Amino acid sequence: MKNGTTFISKSVNSSPNHYNSSTQENNSNFADNISFYTRSSETGSLERLDVDNNSQRIISSSSNGEDNIHVVVRVRPLNAREIKTKENGLIKFLGNGQIMFDVGIGKPRLFSYNAVFEPPATQEDILQFSGVKKLIEMAVEGFRCTIFCYGQTGSGKTHTLTGPPKLFSKKPAPYSEQHGLIFRAFLYLFQLLQEKSEVHFVLKASFLEIYNEKVIDLLNPGIRRKPLAVRWSKKCRGFFVENLFTVDCEELDDLIAVLEEGIRNRSMGRHNMNDYSSRSHTILTVYITSEQPTDDGVFISRSGKINFVDLAGSEMTKKTQSAGKTLQEANNINNSLMVLGYCISSLSEVKRKSNHAVVSCE
Ligand SMILES: Nc1ncnc2c1ncn2[C@@H]1O[C@H](COP(=O)(O)OP(=O)(O)OP(=O)(O)O)[C@@H](O)[C@H]1O
Ligand SMILES: [Mg+2]
Repeated sequence: MKNGTTFISKSVNSSPNHYNSSTQENNSNFADNISFYTRSSETGSLERLDVDNNSQRIISSSSNGEDNIHVVVRVRPLNAREIKTKENGLIKFLGNGQIMFDVGIGKPRLFSYNAVFEPPATQEDILQFSGVKKLIEMAVEGFRCTIFCYGQTGSGKTHTLTGPPKLFSKKPAPYSEQHGLIFRAFLYLFQLLQEKSEVHFVLKASFLEIYNEKVIDLLNPGIRRKPLAVRWSKKCRGFFVENLFTVDCEELDDLIAVLEEGIRNRSMGRHNMNDYSSRSHTILTVYITSEQPTDDGVFISRSGKINFVDLAGSEMTKKTQSAGKTLQEANNINNSLMVLGYCISSLSEVKRKSNHAVVSCE
């Protein structure tokens, strides 16, 4: 989709009810500066309006009840090139989680999402209204959750997950408005852990990239960036990356250091549609284990995790004018996204037929 970043917030074994009152009341420090109100219509949909700007709508969502996969779209503001080529007006925001895409050729196409973030939406809006807070709460409770961003190159995936390209080139202000979803999710995670002082938590994190079909450890890449092997575990009945570095994270700063280190080591490149294009898919994983004492002296152990996936965007190489190394990367990116598409449609086919997901991804 043009100018759109789509997230899938996927949770395993759960039926999260997003937008419940606790989700909205539990604003983090960032939200204190934002003036907004939400209202629920008779259909159960939810909107955030910009009270400073003639009540212009910023977010609309449709509530579709009990679903453990949540799909939302963020439409970024047009850049200078797109304004020049008059690409404005192609997307119409209909409210109720719907957008209409009309390029003037053929019939306009209608798309429905759990939530639609319009161009004025802020980084904090994404945390508050995408359903991600609910996933973090679930990971703390021992569920395995995944948030992933996909979309065409230059659509704003990395901006949404980590922030604008130069944010980490020098030490960013701790509460910068530009911080992306991962930083905000970390803050929210630590806020939750502090509220559960009776539980003993251990956090670890890993960060890898898949570059030209090879898995590279972003926390321990080595000078020659030697790829790691992906193996099948009979015990867990799932794939895992052998010898992947995991870092103990006692403090919030440790998690932020993992994020910064991974961003520094990640493969970036430049082409006609994005000066700071991600040339690899990345997965940042936070592993959360906990032990909770009960009254009868027994401990309840939980083991959850949360994956943040930033995919490299699909490319029309005619438009990006990729050549040489960038073209090889583009071919690998496009191929891997095609295979991912096959996987998602086979999984949803199985789910549709049997009404439950049968594969869990480690
Ligand atoms: N919501 C937004 N507001 C302002 N600028 C944005 C927004 N989203 C993206 N941008 C800017 O658009 C440019 C492209 O965004 P970004 O690099 O995040 O795209 P991407 O989808 O990750 O692309 P790729 O697949 O090539 O990695 C960046 O300069 C980014 O800062
Ligand atoms: Mg990117």
